[in-house]
Amino acid sequence: MYSALILAAGEGKRMKSAMPKVLHEVMFKPVIRWVVEAAAGAQERIVVVGHGADKVKEYLGGDVLYACQEVQLGTGHAVMQARELIKNCECIAVLSGDTPLITARTLDTAYSYHKSSGNIATVLTANVPDPYGYGRIVRGQGGDVVKIVEHRDATEKELEITEINSGIYFFDTKELLSALNKITTDNAQGEYYLTDTIEILLSEGKKVGAFLLDDHNEILGINDRIQLAAAGEIMRKRIVLRHMQEGVTFLSPDTAYISGEAQIGSDTIIMPNSIIEGKTVIGNGCIIGPNSRIVDSKIGSGTKVDNSVVTRSEIGADANIGPFAYIRPGCVLGDGVKAGDFVEVKNSVIGKGTKMSHLTYVGDADIGEGVNFGCGTVVVNYDGIKKHRSQVGDNAFIGCNVNLISPVKVGKGVFIAAGSTITDDIPDGAFAIARSRQTVKTDWKRK
Ligand code: UD1
Ligand code: CA
Repeated sequence: MYSALILAAGEGKRMKSAMPKVLHEVMFKPVIRWVVEAAAGAQERIVVVGHGADKVKEYLGGDVLYACQEVQLGTGHAVMQARELIKNCECIAVLSGDTPLITARTLDTAYSYHKSSGNIATVLTANVPDPYGYGRIVRGQGGDVVKIVEHRDATEKELEITEINSGIYFFDTKELLSALNKITTDNAQGEYYLTDTIEILLSEGKKVGAFLLDDHNEILGINDRIQLAAAGEIMRKRIVLRHMQEGVTFLSPDTAYISGEAQIGSDTIIMPNSIIEGKTVIGNGCIIGPNSRIVDSKIGSGTKVDNSVVTRSEIGADANIGPFAYIRPGCVLGDGVKAGDFVEVKNSVIGKGTKMSHLTYVGDADIGEGVNFGCGTVVVNYDGIKKHRSQVGDNAFIGCNVNLISPVKVGKGVFIAAGSTITDDIPDGAFAIARSRQTVKTDWKRK
């Protein structure tokens, strides 16, 4: 087992942001969270915080341990700040808080290699098309790693090297801490470079190796908004691919945005421009989209969500949502419910088979099964000061353009005439009409 040390104290100047770099999101999740999750195989995870420490700690909470680097004097200095926390771990994995695409699987494989090779230090490397800005892996005649040279310290010849340092390493902790005592700031940036420990360990005759990754995308570091977008796109594709492998159809894979946590059942079709966020769970055989956004919700099998938004709600099987519906937080819609065009539902329970076909608002209400809402019905839940809750019994028929002034209780099987404004409870089976009578004047003449 290894412990993971994640360096996240840097400011990230190139992001030009008021927010710490590692809290910027890649596919709906802060960069640092992706790294912390990739290190799930570690015995413990320690994050070195500094710039924006409070915000990073507030976000990550108690899932990890923290070391603080008050002033950022380089990656080597950052590791030193965690000395007390790591000194008793046998093996330490050092990761950058700004490389969200690294996977748990790659870390596991690299760790196995590190152990079986008997290395004191293993650096994860990759050949990249554009090595600009990265530290280069300098290899000797026999191909062994000799040192890592930072871009700004590299010679013309060294700059031609395309094998780069990922910023991810496995170290024997004791040897690392002893080598860190020997690094200096004698370099172009005047910083304590963690990378210098490689040369130091080698000079002491210790075994150092490199683990070359197949997929260089995994170590893309985020330093600016361009790399943030690039990482987002790689992550997005990775997630969509996984769902396709598990039996989900995408009409337009390039326009689907799905969180890493979302689950989608097989034979579901994702139409263009759909966004599925958070811990959403979608059943089998659904049709989602086009142009739909679903956040932290549960969608039953066979349900359609067409051009609609669903947030923090639960929808049963074979329901029809949209086009142009808005299901706001706190809703539970039963099987076969219809919420058609320009229907908004908030914090309400809607029984099986109930239909709200058009232009209806239902807020803070408990609606039974088989209810029919006519076009333009409004549950008037807010009196300007307080929200109130209403109830509608099973199989009630609510005519067009009815206002239910909450709190009000409409019984089972009730029939409400169109245009009624209902302020009083209606018992089961009753008919209610609440509108003024029509007057027709035949002797009328235009003045
Ligand atoms: C570093 C490596 C470089 C490698 C690259 C990979 C060094 C000297 N260089 O360069 O070889 O190719 O990563 O992405 O290590 N950090 C701190 N405290 C500090 C400085 C940095 O916590 O004092 C953290 C940053 O928040 C960041 C990580 O360490 O998460 C890497 O720092 P950064 O400044 O981005 O290093 P690079 O110049 O990219
Ligand atoms: Ca970096």
